[in-house]
Amino acid sequence: MKILAIESSCDETAAAVVEDGRTVLSSVIASQVEEHRLYGGVVPEIASRRHAEAIVPVVSRALEEAKLGLSDIDALAVTYAPGLIGALLVGVNFAKGLALSTGLPLVPVHHLRSHIASNYISNKELKPPFLCLVVSGGHSHIVMVEDYTRMKIIGRTRDDAAGEAFDKAARTMGMPYPGGIELDKVAEGGDPRAFKLPRPIVHDAPYDFSFSGLKTAVINLLHNSAQKGETLDRADVCASFRYAVVDCLCTNFIKAAEELNVGRLVIAGGVSANSLLRKTLAEECKKRGWEFYMPEKSLCGDNAAMVGAQGYYEFISGVKADSNLNAYATMSIEEPIF
Ligand code: KG4
Ligand code: ZN
Repeated sequence: MKILAIESSCDETAAAVVEDGRTVLSSVIASQVEEHRLYGGVVPEIASRRHAEAIVPVVSRALEEAKLGLSDIDALAVTYAPGLIGALLVGVNFAKGLALSTGLPLVPVHHLRSHIASNYISNKELKPPFLCLVVSGGHSHIVMVEDYTRMKIIGRTRDDAAGEAFDKAARTMGMPYPGGIELDKVAEGGDPRAFKLPRPIVHDAPYDFSFSGLKTAVINLLHNSAQKGETLDRADVCASFRYAVVDCLCTNFIKAAEELNVGRLVIAGGVSANSLLRKTLAEECKKRGWEFYMPEKSLCGDNAAMVGAQGYYEFISGVKADSNLNAYATMSIEEPIF
């Protein structure tokens, strides 16, 4: 079954053709990041306008690269929540128009569910159940994936998402948006124990995260040293901060897996590209004899191939939208409503 998938939840306009949820026939991504970089973050109105310009050429290219026409496609899938509302609406409305004109079924896909599904492309043997750490620019969740379309949140962030914390720390150090990637690179040359940073814990919820205190601690460290006219070693600051974030993520994730007795761990979302997170979890899982899966780095960020993967499993479980489909800025991963 071939699905044409569309993604426009943030600053990437993407389209892909995916076969049976696992094989990518084409994947096209038009990134707007260069333009948003001028403002230090995503400007929602600019994002919507760029999606409106890019959506037709991006979808056409995805079909061309797959060497297919619309008549070869069996269903359409589109990200409808969560994300920037004006950005989501471009993809949703385009997909609805396409569904109406072709008669193809339209499958609404939750953005975080699709991040999880990027793993079905990179790891052909992976099947639920598993425990997944979903870490992106807007969310940090520990999710029990009971089945392809049945999920339960075990832990979540109480304030900033991990990606957001990485980006804000990087911005304070003058790195361009989104700074998480560069911070990760610079951290490779530093000492993770050079600066002692806090490991905030949420007392009444052992699997929940809190990153705002940690973010403030590193910002204060940088500002205080600047006021004193001192220059801190950037690589050491990056390494210490990255170590602190990864330590918080891994501690709760491993604790949840132990207590829930799950021996199959998976990571997903933009932050799952982080080198230290990938290395630490691979080692910790190996030590315990657990299975560990991650998406290839090119599938960690926003793309439409993952939407086609999750769209396939949603479709075979009976999920189908009609022409009333709307977009939503927030939506639970557990029981998405459309
Ligand atoms: O999943 P994603 O592409 O978009 C959202 O759905 O939010 O995640 C983007 C986030 C950004 O905050 C970015 O800085 C972060 O993922 N990110 C990283 C790395 N690569 C991307 N954070 C840390 N280390 C990385 N290597
Ligand atoms: Zn995302």
